[in-house]
Amino acid sequence: MIFINACLKKPTPYTPVWMMRQAGRYLPEYMRVRSAAGDFLSLCKDYKKASEVTIQPVEILGVDAAILFSDILVVPLEMGMDLRFEKGEGPVFSNPIKTAENLDALDVEKAVENLSYVYDTIGLTRQNLSADKALIGFCGAPWTIATYMIEGGGTKTYAVCKKLLYTNPEFLHQILAKVADALTLYVKRQIRAGVNAVQIFDSWAGALEDSAYMEFGWRYIMRIVDSVKAEFPDIPLIVFPKGISGYLDQISGNFEVLGVDWSTPLELAKAKLSPRYVLQGNMEPTRLYDKKAIETGVERILQTMKGAPHIFNLGHGILPDVPVENAKYFIKLVQEKSAR
Ligand code: CP3
Repeated sequence: MIFINACLKKPTPYTPVWMMRQAGRYLPEYMRVRSAAGDFLSLCKDYKKASEVTIQPVEILGVDAAILFSDILVVPLEMGMDLRFEKGEGPVFSNPIKTAENLDALDVEKAVENLSYVYDTIGLTRQNLSADKALIGFCGAPWTIATYMIEGGGTKTYAVCKKLLYTNPEFLHQILAKVADALTLYVKRQIRAGVNAVQIFDSWAGALEDSAYMEFGWRYIMRIVDSVKAEFPDIPLIVFPKGISGYLDQISGNFEVLGVDWSTPLELAKAKLSPRYVLQGNMEPTRLYDKKAIETGVERILQTMKGAPHIFNLGHGILPDVPVENAKYFIKLVQEKSAR
């Protein structure tokens, strides 16, 4: 698998490429399957349909890896929280965590069992996916998941979480530790079910100042990484802490690949962290609106990473109104321009 070889710094015939959120609303094929399933969460729980949309971008765009179709929030859902996806509003938990009793009511073991539809999706996908394409499993980072559990949904200010961080840090640590325990078991189950690599998404890392992030964010990712590595040393781990370009110096750990978001200059990430880590990223996702913008973006990134270990990706998820034709053009361009 070209993608896995790249994770392990082995030579590859070209730079492998995939896109965050590559299975999604910009694909008419995805919209058809989602509407047959009813809604987004029903699609996640229907392993046959979830597997079908996982494979779509590989067949339609020719990306080098499939990413499991699911969501980071199915973990708190299956721990016992009530999750809805509201149109235009994003995810909503109707009973956010406020008290120790709320937290005690969440069940780690039950969640890991209830997530069997994810393991079934992985098993079926690995069966149907061509053998040279990697299947990436994933989870959210404890900090990013906890922001939704505590705020009850998306937030611009993170005021509820941050208030907790400064007024009752022990309770925030308890929440993060419990979520990290669930995620550790969950990732191990994904690996046993057949994923070839795992990405940990910390989309809201940049909401915290550096010292707070290292204590409440990064530390819990490393807890998962160290436990998974001890059991599965050969499975590449990718971490994606979005928005931390100011303190890349503090980033280290037992993982192979660092996902670089689009707001972090790739030159800077390279200077600080390459070749110790394979860098993944980081084209600005909105460049996909225009072919010329794709060309200049791809050229610059390939030039920057020439000779250094690299996996091509967007610097965050693809947006729903990107023309499929442009996404195809992007993938093909990376594969052709990087051929060696
Ligand atoms: O990347 C992939 O193709 C795999 C599937 C995937 C989804 N969500 C599907 C999804 C992955 C890896 C995620 C991760 C995820 N989910 C993150 C971390 C990555 C990131 O984007 O920063 C976060 C923060 C979430 C939480 C979440 N889920 C939000 C905020 C939303 C709503 C935003 C939106 O775009 O509407 C979701 C819903 C969601 N997850 C959709 C998809 C395809 C849209 C649902 C739909 O079909 O309407």
